[in-house]
Amino acid sequence: MVRRFRLLCLSLGRGLLTRPARVGENRKIRLGVLGSGKGSNFGAIADACVAGTLSAEVALVLADVPDAGILQRATERGIPARHLDPGRYRTRLDETAEAAWVKALQDAGVEWVALAGFMRILKGAFLRAFPLRVVNIHPSLLPSFPGLEAWRQALDYGVKHTGVTVHLVDQGVDTGPIVNQATVPVRDDDTPASLHARIQEVEHRLYPEALQALVSGTVRVDGRRTRQAVPGAA
Ligand code: GRF
Repeated sequence: MVRRFRLLCLSLGRGLLTRPARVGENRKIRLGVLGSGKGSNFGAIADACVAGTLSAEVALVLADVPDAGILQRATERGIPARHLDPGRYRTRLDETAEAAWVKALQDAGVEWVALAGFMRILKGAFLRAFPLRVVNIHPSLLPSFPGLEAWRQALDYGVKHTGVTVHLVDQGVDTGPIVNQATVPVRDDDTPASLHARIQEVEHRLYPEALQALVSGTVRVDGRRTRQAVPGAA
């Protein structure tokens, strides 16, 4: 009886947090990856899937840029990859495009979406289709330096440490709940290119780790905060 009560509390408590991944021990989460550029983070994610450190498989890669390197990288790995029309706006998907992107992902059975250098803002319908299941990586310690070329912003500002943030995506620009962060020191002789290169090395480790924590349910979202799930706790 006590045990049943605890189980009930457990499931009710979970309902307040993000839905647990509910993966069977060996079931792999189906991941969609969206990109606009070269796709080195996609490569790191795909490598982690193959290595088994990320319990997922990349089911579909979508790009808004027809010749984005991420599409070629995916094709080389035998992963389905497509360019889809982003619609009439420059910085976001329009409503028609958003519906088409959601449908493509749903048709591929995608459960979680990872943005990997995707240069458009996702709004209502897309985020409602994957509630608390769209993740992004940003090349700074948010909330410092949101937006474009965050490594250049950090150099221009003169900070001594910048870094990497993995966060869930909400309606804002780089404002969603933070899943994990790592610091990168700024060197006296850094250029924008050298700093971005060191940031990317950290990204390639942090992004698969953070995704694994999310899809396995070891990290839960609680309002603005994310926390380590305590085994057996509500
Ligand atoms: C990364 O620096 C990422 O943080 C930012 O865009 C860049 C994408 O790089 N969002 P890549 O296409 O994954 O190599």
